[in-house]
Amino acid sequence: MVKLSITYFIWATALATLTAAASLYNLPASLPTSFNWTSSGILISPKSDSYEIAGVKDPSVIYHEGRYHVFASTAKLAGYSLVYLNFTDFAHASSTNFTYLDTTSIGTGYRAAPQVFYFTPTKTWYLVYQNGNAAYSTNSDINNPNGWSSPKTFYPDMPTIIADNIADGYWVDMWVICDSRNCHLFSSDDNGHLYRSDTTLSNFPSGFSEPVIAMQDPDKYRVYEASNVYKVNNIYLLIVEAIGTDGRRYFRSWTSSTITGTWHPLADSESHPFARANNVDFNDTTWTQDISHGEMVRTIVDQTMTIHPCNMHYLYQGMDPSAGGEYNGLPWRIGLLKQTNSSC
Ligand SMILES: *[C@@H]1O[C@H](CO)[C@@H](O)[C@H](O)[C@H]1NC(C)=O
Ligand SMILES: *[C@@H]1O[C@H](CO)[C@@H](O)[C@H](O)[C@H]1NC(C)=O
Ligand SMILES: *[C@@H]1O[C@H](CO)[C@@H](O)[C@H](O)[C@H]1NC(C)=O
Ligand SMILES: *[C@@H]1O[C@H](CO)[C@@H](O)[C@H](O)[C@H]1NC(C)=O
Repeated sequence: MVKLSITYFIWATALATLTAAASLYNLPASLPTSFNWTSSGILISPKSDSYEIAGVKDPSVIYHEGRYHVFASTAKLAGYSLVYLNFTDFAHASSTNFTYLDTTSIGTGYRAAPQVFYFTPTKTWYLVYQNGNAAYSTNSDINNPNGWSSPKTFYPDMPTIIADNIADGYWVDMWVICDSRNCHLFSSDDNGHLYRSDTTLSNFPSGFSEPVIAMQDPDKYRVYEASNVYKVNNIYLLIVEAIGTDGRRYFRSWTSSTITGTWHPLADSESHPFARANNVDFNDTTWTQDISHGEMVRTIVDQTMTIHPCNMHYLYQGMDPSAGGEYNGLPWRIGLLKQTNSSC
């Protein structure tokens, strides 16, 4: 009798845990094999102030304790820096003031393409970005933009394999994702190579290995930059920004059972993209033909980069299709994609 009730207790507990996990993570829902989205209009634009930036770019976003926290690059011909803003609803994004992070210990000079996440083992917020090297700052409180530390780098210098393959490209768009044992750092070279290096969870942020080439394409525009890697249930989703045959930016996608690959095509072509002008419907004006550098809106804020496979929201940069001129002076703006063909 006693034995029976213990068995029953174990079963009941297991069942309750499974039910809770299923509702939390929407198991057994999985990633769709094709994607359709609606886009908002422009949500975040440069302010008219003394910074006189031309573009706001490369958003990183998390939803934490009732607020969206957005970190982005600011761009103008004179160079790149970082900006922070927070709001409770995307409807307020355009009216939210900027906090320019060059006024903090992050400092002035080239800083761009941020990624924000909470590193649970040490209860520390990380902001990963590029400053010519792969850099990061830390903060104990994401609500305090003045709390970011001065930049430190993951590598002493540009790793040899990148120097050997970069040609006339740029080393950009660092991305960190950890599993239960290791942390991985991805980066791109605008020359057809996606790099990955590894360290242990306990050594992070130190100890990153010499990178390996995680993906490459002889046509550099097909594996260009702005990679994101997410955990979705028990698989990993890789998206990489490409430049299409029409000259416009779009995202290709792959999946793998491990962060170290092999990566299998998911929606990876211009006719079957992850996100491109041809699978995005604009709610009002079609303000961009480029679906470029961004991030999934994450509600799980830790180093595992876990997202749900349902109703994805992706914050991205786009720009007026008629704009031209020097790349650093282009008028990038930020908008939001919402998935419309979610199966769950
Ligand atoms: C587009 O409009 C629909 C209907 O009003 C709305 O549900 C959806 O959230 C909008 N999409 C975006 C990305 O704002
Ligand atoms: C935003 O900035 C403007 C101009 O500096 C200022 O008047 C206003 O009080 C600020 N709003 C908030 C919510 O801080
Ligand atoms: C939001 O941003 C403002 C301005 O940078 C900052 O003062 C504030 O602490 C942030 N967090 C919250 C929760 O308001
Ligand atoms: C959905 O996306 C596909 C590309 O994957 C596109 O061909 C199709 O027109 C899109 N459907 C809608 C309703 O936008």
